[in-house]
Amino acid sequence: MRLLVTGGCGFIGTNFVYMMLEKYPDMVIVNLDKLTYAGNRRNVLALEKKLGGSRYHFAHGDIANAELVAHLLVSHRIDAVVNFAAESHVDRSIADCGPFITTNVLGTQVLLDTARRLNIPKFVHVSTDEVYGTLGPQGKFSEETPLAPNSPYSASKAAADMLCRAFFETHNFPVTITRCSNNYGPYQFPEKLIPLMILKASRGESLPVYGDGQNVRDWIHVSDHCRGVELALMKGRPGQVYNFGGNAEKANIEVVKIILRALGKSEDLVSFVKDRPGHDRRYAMDYSLAAKELGFAPQYSFEQGIAETLKWYQDNAKWLEEVQSGAYRTFMDTWYGERR
Ligand code: NAD
Ligand code: TYD
Repeated sequence: MRLLVTGGCGFIGTNFVYMMLEKYPDMVIVNLDKLTYAGNRRNVLALEKKLGGSRYHFAHGDIANAELVAHLLVSHRIDAVVNFAAESHVDRSIADCGPFITTNVLGTQVLLDTARRLNIPKFVHVSTDEVYGTLGPQGKFSEETPLAPNSPYSASKAAADMLCRAFFETHNFPVTITRCSNNYGPYQFPEKLIPLMILKASRGESLPVYGDGQNVRDWIHVSDHCRGVELALMKGRPGQVYNFGGNAEKANIEVVKIILRALGKSEDLVSFVKDRPGHDRRYAMDYSLAAKELGFAPQYSFEQGIAETLKWYQDNAKWLEEVQSGAYRTFMDTWYGERR
């Protein structure tokens, strides 16, 4: 299989590219990434060194660039697209929603249009549980739950999902949508809850918990999400939506205290701050359809996943430091400069 993966220098894309190239020795992956603040080409440096030019190709560019997308699809004889590229942080979407519409909506439209025009036989669009809105204390989101996004981020993801649906219904274009709950694990940008709290706790800084800290997320280890996307790619039905979840509902304050305990830090570092506007109270996923049709089941318990994740961030303190300082933005220029 020859895959075009978009956003492969971001958190989930990085994990996905590593997993797939290791698992499928004949697979070729072209990674199209714009390298926004969230894209770190250094994440996949090991692949560039080992497989660059043979089974792994990096293309620096925008999914909204139709000409570039068409060129990559044709020149690499791509037979499936997996679209991870997105603006992904809710707080940023509240501050400025423009880039979310440009990438998440227009970018997805360009990818869909171009892939359809070139008869690409498989397209997996990676979406989120946040398109369903928010839950009360009971119940879970199923694939039938009506979309009711509450943040500009989730609204942009819902719009992209609707376009994917329309491309299937109108053009019979074989797009499969995946919706997953909150991921954690290696390479996550430290603006999201878990890596941000690890970073702040390890520095002895205060940990900003929004509102009363009782908002609940269903945490999934990134490798379980990646396996779900792999299953959707290999076995998913065109036109179908699949939910993935981690079976690990936790209130934010609980997650923060687990991190503090594991790092041997005081709970006095917790600081309750002004709530996020439009803050969804609870997410929880019913993934029984993916379990039944794809054989999906998360492998990680939260306890095991968070222990491994903490260790990864401790072992990769330099990665965290460079992302935090912005040094990762210039690293690749230096690296390529030295090689020339
Ligand atoms: P991320 O922000 O870490 O990475 C996004 C990547 O996309 C970056 O490498 C960035 O450079 C790239 N990108 C952004 N705009 C682009 C553009 N116009 N063209 C090409 N590349 C572009 O995001 P993530 O957490 O890895 O999420 C990946 C996908 O999974 C997103 O679609 C997100 O909505 C979805 N998702 C994320 C989670 C989560 O918990 N992180 C959960 C469910 C679904
Ligand atoms: P986040 O990692 O931004 O993911 P999402 O908003 O997509 O679920 O946030 C996870 C939860 O943690 C969410 O309820 C908001 C909360 N949160 C904090 O309390 N403090 C923070 O500094 C951040 C970034 C998030």
